[in-house]
Amino acid sequence: MNELSAKHIVLGLTGGVACFKAAELCRALVKEGATVQVVMTAASQQFITPVTMQALSGRAVYDSQWDARESNNMAHINLSREADAILIAPCSADFIAKLLHGRADDLLSLMCLARPLDKVPLLLAPAMNREMWAHPATQRNVAQLRADGATVLDVASGEQACGETGDGRMLEADELLQELIAFFSPKSLAGQHVLVTAGPTYEAIDPVRGVTNLSSGKMGFAIARAACEAGATVDLVAGPVALATPRGVTRHDVRSACDMLDATLALAPSATLFIATAAVADWRPAASAEHKIKKDGSGQPPELRFVENPDILATVAALPRAQSGELFCVGFAAESQDLLANAQAKRERKKVPLLVGNIGPATFGQDDNALLLVDAQGAKELARASKRALARQLIADIARRLGN
Ligand code: CTP
Repeated sequence: MNELSAKHIVLGLTGGVACFKAAELCRALVKEGATVQVVMTAASQQFITPVTMQALSGRAVYDSQWDARESNNMAHINLSREADAILIAPCSADFIAKLLHGRADDLLSLMCLARPLDKVPLLLAPAMNREMWAHPATQRNVAQLRADGATVLDVASGEQACGETGDGRMLEADELLQELIAFFSPKSLAGQHVLVTAGPTYEAIDPVRGVTNLSSGKMGFAIARAACEAGATVDLVAGPVALATPRGVTRHDVRSACDMLDATLALAPSATLFIATAAVADWRPAASAEHKIKKDGSGQPPELRFVENPDILATVAALPRAQSGELFCVGFAAESQDLLANAQAKRERKKVPLLVGNIGPATFGQDDNALLLVDAQGAKELARASKRALARQLIADIARRLGN
């Protein structure tokens, strides 16, 4: 997906080892369809050359307010007026202090000061040593820059170039890309608190064996990400899957259906929207053996008895908050045939206003899917697309239903 097509980004680089990540970021922005104008301070050129940044962005780099290439000799005005956003990555402690004071003695700071505040947002990706980040001066400056309207992104924690360990590392290129995409997303779920279940569950037979299914969790994770980008607070209750947690989403890992029910019920009281995408195992072994079940030499397999798992969606949909409409519940239906009829019947059985049908065997583990949205009025199809694209369409559709 070209998630940043038609966006023009000014990518500013200031002095810091994290400049090497800016090269990767520049490439990622271009790959997502953005046009990128790189502007570098003198200090950043101690870490990476304009040649590299020009090659990756496909545009000549600017580094001086006296650049005669601009016919009016006003690079700071021209470059800032055409931008959809200015992203400074890495943003050094010194540059943060400079922005705070509205100083403008180099092209990048001049552009930040000269940009139209209401049209050109400023995003900063700080990068510095942990002591510099923790210093009251930096924290004070960051708080003031936020108050002045800049978006100061989080820093990561970990091993730093100086050999120390702590907060202050710049986010990775992919994380910065996610932040920028989220920044441009319409905030259609602002103020909502979304709870999502995702992935399979695992029902233990003994300590080394269990029953599970082929759900990858990709659809649920994509929905959690899209909800977060749309401005919601998001809790994601995930069965055993090996997927990265979307940025900004709070993840709660669980294993069995009973664990998933407990985690979901604990989070439901603050939720305003519940989306049940998990492929919850319908049955679990009646008893899970404490030790590994051994072959007894008779040639007969052990007899396993199963009991039905609680229905998480139906349980949540029966809560008074859901009944009163304070908590909007959305179910999924994994079917292998007769999608429309099965999804309609399931919607009524689970007593939810919206049920999203999909063909299980055709989607489990895949990166794309097709969805059928079934409500009391009828059905609507979301044509085959990536799970990422479908998740965004579904979130937009749900936001309309919530009147956002
Ligand atoms: N679901 C749930 N708890 C369960 C079973 C299902 O919360 N124990 C939820 C799923 O997350 C999904 C919806 O109910 O949102 C439908 O799940 P699905 O597996 O399609 O349906 P089942 O209820 O299991 O019905 P059947 O197996 O008869 O198709």
